[in-house]
Amino acid sequence: MPHIVVLPHVELCRDGEMFEAEPGKSICDALLDAGIEIEHACEKSCACTTCHVIVHEGFHALAPSEENEDDLLDRAWGLAATSRLSCQAKIPPDSDLVIEIPQYSINHAKESY
Ligand code: FES
Repeated sequence: MPHIVVLPHVELCRDGEMFEAEPGKSICDALLDAGIEIEHACEKSCACTTCHVIVHEGFHALAPSEENEDDLLDRAWGLAATSRLSCQAKIPPDSDLVIEIPQYSINHAKESY
């Protein structure tokens, strides 16, 4: 099974994490199953951006994003060229992933302004 490496996040996994994940499962579900409480405000229905992750390795092994996901990603805090909504991106069958959970989600960003 692919290995998922999660870079340290000050609130969600201070020391970073590594775990195995089932191919075909969404990255969001894999993170939640591993005890990493990534936000998922719309309950994984591709209607918010709170589950945004940046894929540092393995991005090209992911199935391409659909238009709806791309439209939402435009609004994500800290958007990068390898950003994905983790509830939409599925673990690929044969590639490890290195994932960063951005420090803020759009929920946090709103609170600070
Ligand atoms: S949980 Fe809302 S888009 Fe992923």
